[in-house]
Formats: sequence, structure tokens, C-alpha cells
Amino acid sequence: MAYCKSISGIVVAAALSVAGVAQADGAAIGEKHCAACHGSDGNSRYAAVPNIAGLSAEYLYDELRDFAKGERHGERFKPENGEERDMNEVSKALSREEMQQVAEYYSRQTFKPRPQQFDPLLAKLGSKVYRKRCERCHEDNGREFDEDMGRLAGQPKQYLEKALRDFLQKKRRPPKKMAKQLKKLKEKEIPALVHFFAAQQD
Ligand code: HEC
Ligand code: HEC
Repeated sequence: MAYCKSISGIVVAAALSVAGVAQADGAAIGEKHCAACHGSDGNSRYAAVPNIAGLSAEYLYDELRDFAKGERHGERFKPENGEERDMNEVSKALSREEMQQVAEYYSRQTFKPRPQQFDPLLAKLGSKVYRKRCERCHEDNGREFDEDMGRLAGQPKQYLEKALRDFLQKKRRPPKKMAKQLKKLKEKEIPALVHFFAAQQD
């Protein structure tokens, strides 16, 4: 019995230290490969770069894999103190384990809605369109997210508009039912939706 106990004690200690190492690795990978653009805590200060803090680890991992496979287009971007890169390049340089660790790290950070200007009249029109066409999946004014989707509320306008246009231009495949709703949008409703999600700053 004593023998079994000590073995299981060793196994538990080993498992804990593996988890500890994975956490430290996730933070280190983030600092080296992501922080220049997304911030050390996953809240970016750039209009073209989304916040990734607090999103689901499964979603973050899936997006990294999609970028690596070229199934999602990544705009090139140069941060103030770093090299110009895009997400396709960044993701391709990571192993599967590194993607999992860095996704896990950012999922444990806290999302801070972006402070930014918006047009209240446009946001009001956007609110109507949102309720009709988007709310049933992107609940709570776009604050809700899960393992299949990110967060819209409080993301920067420039990124949101690019994300919507990528779906419309088939650079990224939207879920079928979302595609149906996007097709019905009038041109002026796109900036309206963008201003509505940008207005969600709490
Ligand atoms: C050179 C700047 C840069 C670096 C470095 C960078 N990113 Fe990005 N990231 C971006 C930009 C710009 C976008 C928006 C891409 C687009 O839609 O064209 C983005 C988008 C994303 C998204 C999609 C978010 C969503 O809500 O769908 C995830 C996830 C992401 N990055 C994670 C990471 C991780 C993790 C790292 C480090 C391993 C990283 N990024 C490094 C600039 C960068
Ligand atoms: C049937 C459910 C559904 C509906 C309706 C829907 N969406 Fe989505 N949306 C999703 C899912 C799931 C994703 C994640 C897709 C992916 O990762 O490729 C998503 C992703 C997005 C993204 C990308 C976010 C990011 O950071 O990558 C934007 C922007 C978006 N939706 C906007 C809208 C807008 C605007 C509407 C209403 C006109 C809408 N969606 C309607 C399910 C839906």
C-alpha cells in the first residue's frame, strides 16, 4: 500500500509540474510571438489588431490552425517596436503544442473593451440590424463567445469591418446561417453594425 501511495504521489507531483511548465511556456510564447501586436495581456492598442484576452482556448487554437493552413486570411501589420508580419506567417512558425499553450495562456487573461470613438446614430441603426440578424448567435450585444466564436463587443472598428468584409468576399468561410444573414445586409448597415459593437465599452 505504502508503495502504491508513493507512486501515485510521484505521478500527481509530475502532472502538477507539467501543468506549471505549460503555463510558463504559454506566457513565454505569447511574449515572444504575440505581445508586440496583441499586448502581453491580450488587449491590443492597435486598430487593426483584435483583443484576444479571455476568449475560449478552443476558439483561439482553432483560429491559429486556420491561419496556419491558410483557411483564414491575415492582414499584414507592423507594430511600433517590431517586424511586419501576418497571422498566417506567425501561426506557421508554431508547433501544435505551442498553439495549445499560447491559446490556453491568453484564454486566462481578462478582455478589456477597446476605448474608441463611435457615431451614436450609426450605432443606433446598427442595434436594430443586430437584433434582427445577429443576436441569436452573438448574444448580449456581442459580448458572448464560446468555443466556436470570438467576441464582437469592444473589438476595434477597423478589425470588425475587415472581419465582416472577409466573410462577404469569401476570404473566410462564415457559418451557413450567418452567411444567409450577411447576404441580406445593405451596404450602409455594415458600418452601422461596426459602430454598434464598438459602442459596447463596458
Ligand atoms: C505582427 C502583428 C501580430 C502578431 C505578432 C500576432 N498577431 Fe494575431 N492578429 C494580428 C492581426 C492584424 C489580426 C487580424 C487579422 C486579420 O483579420 O486580417 C490578428 C488576429 C488574431 C486572432 C483572431 C482573433 C479573433 O477574434 O478571431 C487570433 C486568435 C490571434 N491573432 C492570435 C495571435 C497569437 C496567439 C499570436 C502569437 C502566437 C499572434 N496573434 C501574433 C496581428 C498579430
Ligand atoms: C447562426 C449563428 C450566427 C449568426 C446569425 C451570426 N453569426 Fe457571426 N459568427 C458565428 C460564428 C459561429 C462565428 C465564428 C466563425 C469562425 O470562427 O470562422 C462568427 C463570427 C463572426 C465574426 C468574426 C469575429 C472574429 O473576431 O473573428 C463577425 C465579425 C461576425 N460573426 C459578425 C456577425 C454579424 C454582424 C452578424 C449579423 C449580421 C452575425 N455575425 C450573425 C455565428 C453567427
